[in-house]
Amino acid sequence: MVKAVVLGAAGGIGQPLSLLLKTCSLISELRLYDVVNTPGVASDLSHISSLAKITGYLPANDGLEKTLTGADIVVIPAGIPRKPGMTRDDLFKINAGIVRELVTGIAKFCPKAFVLIISNPVNSTVPIAAEVLKAHNVFDATRLFGVTTLDVVRASTFTAEIVGEKDSRKIVVPVVGGHSGETIVPLLSLAQPACKIPADKLDGLVHRIQFGGDEVVAAKDGSGSATLSMAFAAQGEKGIIEPTFVYLPGVPGGEEVSKALGGIDFFAVPVELGPNGVVKATNPFPAISDYEKKLLAVAIKDLSGNIAKGVEFAKTAK
Ligand code: NAD
Ligand code: LMR
Repeated sequence: MVKAVVLGAAGGIGQPLSLLLKTCSLISELRLYDVVNTPGVASDLSHISSLAKITGYLPANDGLEKTLTGADIVVIPAGIPRKPGMTRDDLFKINAGIVRELVTGIAKFCPKAFVLIISNPVNSTVPIAAEVLKAHNVFDATRLFGVTTLDVVRASTFTAEIVGEKDSRKIVVPVVGGHSGETIVPLLSLAQPACKIPADKLDGLVHRIQFGGDEVVAAKDGSGSATLSMAFAAQGEKGIIEPTFVYLPGVPGGEEVSKALGGIDFFAVPVELGPNGVVKATNPFPAISDYEKKLLAVAIKDLSGNIAKGVEFAKTAK
């Protein structure tokens, strides 16, 4: 049985995600934390007849400490979302500080917890989290994840539309790299089952997977970005191999993957998960197409800058 925490629980992702976690039979205790509204969200969810005991906390009266002490899993969707015209990197100014503050709490009060970072820009917030945990001597790369599952969910949905598969859950596409624009690299050549994408549809499909987030931002027209599909993605599926954004040098098999990618430290790759976190990072790259190799080169270049920005912030900003 698991004690789970949502930081940013009153937000657009936080609320539906907390609802899904409240009904998950693996969770015995669910603690919600936000700078606003968590007592109300927790009260509302507490009327649901399910196993998880739920409590809500605000920053006052050591709320963060009370929320985090003893937690096994911490999911972080705290921070501002995009508006039309913004990139995820535009969120760095505000969200970098929020993530640093919350992960400092994790380092102090539940240093062994699994940490799942949803707050954007994931490409930089995960490196910030790693640096904060390192500075407190509690960093374990097998327990820190940048949540990129929404890219995998989108890849299934959009690919199914193109190949005419009615049940998109049957199509699984590994998506690697980072979580923004061209750093998102869908490996359609490795889709299971194998999918024949018509040549004239390939660029459009890749673009839609890479920029699916912008579709939602535009449709929401200023009121935020994906929340419901994100909450769905964050609840996870039962499979034990999932792409997620990890610190490669710190996870088994990661050094080899990093070497294959020219030495990059953080990358989303399919990882095998076990009860203690990452069991092994897999290396899908020897089998990818020439088309995908080109996408990968662009992703690595952009992502390296995002990673360096996060590391620099964590090391220098006060
Ligand atoms: P939102 O504004 O609806 O909710 C964010 C919540 O965070 C708010 O309730 C806010 O009060 C809270 N918050 C702000 N500062 C906080 C702090 N210091 N401590 C605790 N809580 C704090 O936004 P949203 O739509 O839920 O999106 C949240 C984040 O998730 C954004 O950065 C967004 O870009 C990102 N996101 C990531 C993915 C992904 O695939 N990784 C997908 C969708 C959205
Ligand atoms: C997404 O992919 O939907 C999220 O990262 C939110 C965004 O800003 O697009």
